[in-house]
Amino acid sequence: MGPRKVEIQTLDYPKLIDPRGKPCHHGVIIKLVTTNICGSDQHIYRGRFPAPTGMVLGHENTGEVVEVGRDVEFIKVGDLVSVPFNVACGRCRNCKERHTDVCMNVNPDASCGAYGFNLGGWQGGQADYMMVPYADFNLLKFPDKDEAMAKIKDLTLLSDILPTAFHGCVEAKVGPGSTVYIAGAGPVGRCAAASARLLGASCIIVGDSNKERLALVKKAGYEVVDTSKAPPLPDQIEAILGQREVDCGVDCVGFEAHGHGPKAEDDPAAVINMLLEVVRAPAGLGIPGVYAPGDTQAKNEAVKRGTYAIDFGKAWIKSPAMTAGQCPVMNYNRGLMMAILWGRMDYLSAVTNVEFIPLEKAPEAYRLFDEGSPKKFVIDPHGSVKKAA
Ligand SMILES: NC(=O)c1ccc[n+]([C@@H]2O[C@H](COP(=O)([O-])OP(=O)(O)OC[C@H]3O[C@@H](n4cnc5c(N)ncnc54)[C@H](O)[C@@H]3O)[C@@H](O)[C@H]2O)c1
Ligand SMILES: [Zn+2]
Ligand SMILES: [Zn+2]
Repeated sequence: MGPRKVEIQTLDYPKLIDPRGKPCHHGVIIKLVTTNICGSDQHIYRGRFPAPTGMVLGHENTGEVVEVGRDVEFIKVGDLVSVPFNVACGRCRNCKERHTDVCMNVNPDASCGAYGFNLGGWQGGQADYMMVPYADFNLLKFPDKDEAMAKIKDLTLLSDILPTAFHGCVEAKVGPGSTVYIAGAGPVGRCAAASARLLGASCIIVGDSNKERLALVKKAGYEVVDTSKAPPLPDQIEAILGQREVDCGVDCVGFEAHGHGPKAEDDPAAVINMLLEVVRAPAGLGIPGVYAPGDTQAKNEAVKRGTYAIDFGKAWIKSPAMTAGQCPVMNYNRGLMMAILWGRMDYLSAVTNVEFIPLEKAPEAYRLFDEGSPKKFVIDPHGSVKKAA
């Protein structure tokens, strides 16, 4: 409803109609089982990401199909499904090339759509019910409902942050034995630590200034550095690794970054510059952290436009390769689901620290998350998780 103003309101049951008023015969209505609050929602909550007043938030959605459109062939009523946060048509050139992060047909203003953002007008799922278009293409069906409910704490992360964090590691070229620096100990950074572990990384270091989040990461068995401490990042990395550079770097922070040291100020270029400094040549950088023009708290016009002071000349010699943008969730969600179902990621929940809450508690959870809570809040709007437990 405006900066730091989220409300629970009673709205109409969704219809199989797209934001431009066209019928969605290819869509379904789902009853939400879990819908997570994300750091990306926090950019909107803090008023730094423009979003229309009255928009329903929520892009990390899992639910049970309760209604199917005329042209849906394979998804059935009763299926328990994970909804990738990217809205994708499955018909355009980019979708055909597995780039559901930049679908060309779901947002008239840009090549990319998502639920609960200013990206095509698709209403979010922090609600009782929501509409999902192009359902046969978009939805990932869990093979067994009871088994899925038993692992819902991990599976609820498949709609966004686990694939996103994994994508960040893949793009940073994390592999067996890699040493990795992950900037940010928020839920995405914590999923990145677990993803690096799944990919076989050796030394996994997570940096942040948030003490509670760092303590959680440390307890779960990863190395940490405190970016609010005076020693520069390469010194802190050397103290752990014996070397001043790591093989791979992942940005799980984005434009709301702070600089390094006890007196650090906000600096949207801080994380990219830090990564360019601490990743060895050839430098592989995964940048899932969000950068977007229109920041209402930007220090100057250039930053507001999304133009940042990145030390590219200094870094060029390292032959850097960086991938930014939305994660194409569909490239990873099935594989990560199988890893979870077969017990290959049993270490995930220790670092994600999921807490289920009823819908009524969502405004309070937004506030706590904004204050830096070490939890990942997951809304259980119908009490389904509670019932299954
Ligand atoms: N690309 C995608 O598809 C995608 C998907 C999901 C989330 N995201 C983005 O990923 C980012 C992280 O999400 P989250 O939920 O973990 O958010 P979060 O806000 O909970 O976590 C960000 C953390 O970064 C820390 N931080 C700030 N400056 C830092 C610095 N210089 N070095 C190290 N840490 C620093 C903060 O203290 C905070 O703990 C956000 O920008 C979010 O929008 C992107
Ligand atoms: Zn998210
Ligand atoms: Zn498409």
